[in-house]
Amino acid sequence: MPVMRKTRCVVLISGRGTNLSAILSAAAAPDYPAEIVAVISNKTDATGLLLAQEAGIATEVVPSQGVSDREIYDQALLAAIDRYQPELVILAGFMRILTPGFVAQYAGRMINIHPSLLPSFTGMHTHQRAIDAGVHVHGCSVHFVTAELDHGPMIAQAAVPVYADDDAAKLAARVLKEEHRIYPEAVRWFAEGRLKVVGQRVLLTDEPAVPNVLIVPNPG
Ligand code: GRF
Repeated sequence: MPVMRKTRCVVLISGRGTNLSAILSAAAAPDYPAEIVAVISNKTDATGLLLAQEAGIATEVVPSQGVSDREIYDQALLAAIDRYQPELVILAGFMRILTPGFVAQYAGRMINIHPSLLPSFTGMHTHQRAIDAGVHVHGCSVHFVTAELDHGPMIAQAAVPVYADDDAAKLAARVLKEEHRIYPEAVRWFAEGRLKVVGQRVLLTDEPAVPNVLIVPNPG
């Protein structure tokens, strides 16, 4: 059987790494078209590093603590990433604002997951802000990274209902479950070469159209 050539991916993290874990699980399947060649963190104590090590994946820390100049930090990060020659850079809870120069190096080859239905609720504390705003639908978005924070052509979104008795933690857990579903899928589509960016839109090629409508609260 011919050996499948897999898309080389580097994952950037800052923390617990549950999205990393979801992608690693997907990537363990022989027919998954992407491989994680390294996990890089800006924090030495990111627990996601341990998950990567357990999976036998190279890890590196490019510490951001004490480096106040973003350009200098991003140069160091770029050098670390480039050593692995990735075709895709996956931001999975990487809690840093990236410089435009860094983003330009990976234009069209860097993706992020954000815990809201973008363009609503960019930035931090998205779940509490969704509750405070009284929205009935919340969710998560996977998008190509551009110089503008939490913007960029949208690859996939998943929506969840917001219930009357939700607090931020409950809502976050509901959203996170969907993050773990859509992020490995988005990586797969990229690796299969099926994402076509047209302006701000991302078209998924070779996918049958599914007529659908989502209304929340469900009228029953
Ligand atoms: C996720 O909620 C992701 O959407 C956001 O940061 C969080 C990272 O969580 N960008 P984890 O480290 O993947 O568990």
